[in-house]
Amino acid sequence: MFGFSSTSKRILVSGIQATGKLHFGNYFGAMKQNIDLANSGEFTPYIFIADYHALTTVKDREALRQSALEIAAAYIACGLDTSRAILFRQSFVPQHTELAWVLNNVVTMPYLMRAHAYKDHEAKDKEVNVGLFDYPVLMAADILMYQADVVPVGQDQKQHIEYARDIAGFYNRAWNVEQFKLPKDLILETVAIVPGIDGQKMSKSKGNVISLFGTDEEVRKAVMSVVTDSKAPSEKKDPDTNNVYAIHKLFLTNAEDAELRRRFEQGGYGYKEAKEALLAAIMKWREGKKALFDDLMQHPEKIERILEEGGRKARKQAEETMKAVRTQVGLQ
Ligand code: TYM
Repeated sequence: MFGFSSTSKRILVSGIQATGKLHFGNYFGAMKQNIDLANSGEFTPYIFIADYHALTTVKDREALRQSALEIAAAYIACGLDTSRAILFRQSFVPQHTELAWVLNNVVTMPYLMRAHAYKDHEAKDKEVNVGLFDYPVLMAADILMYQADVVPVGQDQKQHIEYARDIAGFYNRAWNVEQFKLPKDLILETVAIVPGIDGQKMSKSKGNVISLFGTDEEVRKAVMSVVTDSKAPSEKKDPDTNNVYAIHKLFLTNAEDAELRRRFEQGGYGYKEAKEALLAAIMKWREGKKALFDDLMQHPEKIERILEEGGRKARKQAEETMKAVRTQVGLQ
């Protein structure tokens, strides 16, 4: 049937752009699901650092390199079992760009012009380079390369996964083959859009993030700047319109969540106290992880070793796909 099936396990594919410091939107929106599913042993997980994608916006080689290392270190520090997961740099597997080139020939310009990211740039009168315009095709290549069943992401990537499904179909029909499986997104409703400190979607470009592994002081500053209304401590507060609660609940069990709601609803719980509690929850989350992250960043050779091993596995699989694709389209 489809291109290949080297294993009966379902395939997970997910990437993060190497464009800056990771934040809790990345963690709860995608990384956590990736780690949980990868560690469950039920998937063959391809988890990668999208550095080719980052090149569309980053023009600083040291920043790109640093960000790639940080993503890998963060995954490891947050518990990704690298004996199960294939963790790699996209650019270690140039087959991604090769497949993107082939796919470019079954995709039209008007189709790509409908992409949200492109339209946003256009609306802001920003210059759009060709890489940015073609971003969804490279992302489709990332996903289709490994015959992904499931792609865990946040809501902002939904359209990109739809594009990958469409593009799989365009290719299969154009060449009259059943090469690519149609992937599905995995977006958890409760964390589809993690809010930032201003209540809008947490996003590097909006400067409203709480970073995963920034300094304690950076985290404290961000938490203390969470935007709230001006209700006095004694007043009752609606948790559902309350930004401190919206972020804090991500860290809580159901029972703890119910208790926090009760505190806001009954009054006598001020925002200062609520922010201190949120900060304590974040610091508790960072316990152990932050030290491991820092240690890895001081020993980048340890990270490189893991990335190279993952890269070799990914490249082997990618080459299998490309052999089939090259034959199907008449190359080589
Ligand atoms: P990126 O690097 O912008 O974000 C990485 C992941 O974090 C999720 N995310 C969020 N989820 C919920 N709430 C938020 N506030 C929030 N902010 C970020 C994103 O949805 C994403 O899942 N195009 C992708 C990278 C990519 C990729 C791929 C992903 C390249 N190839 C193939 C999956 C499969 C991106 O820019 O994500």
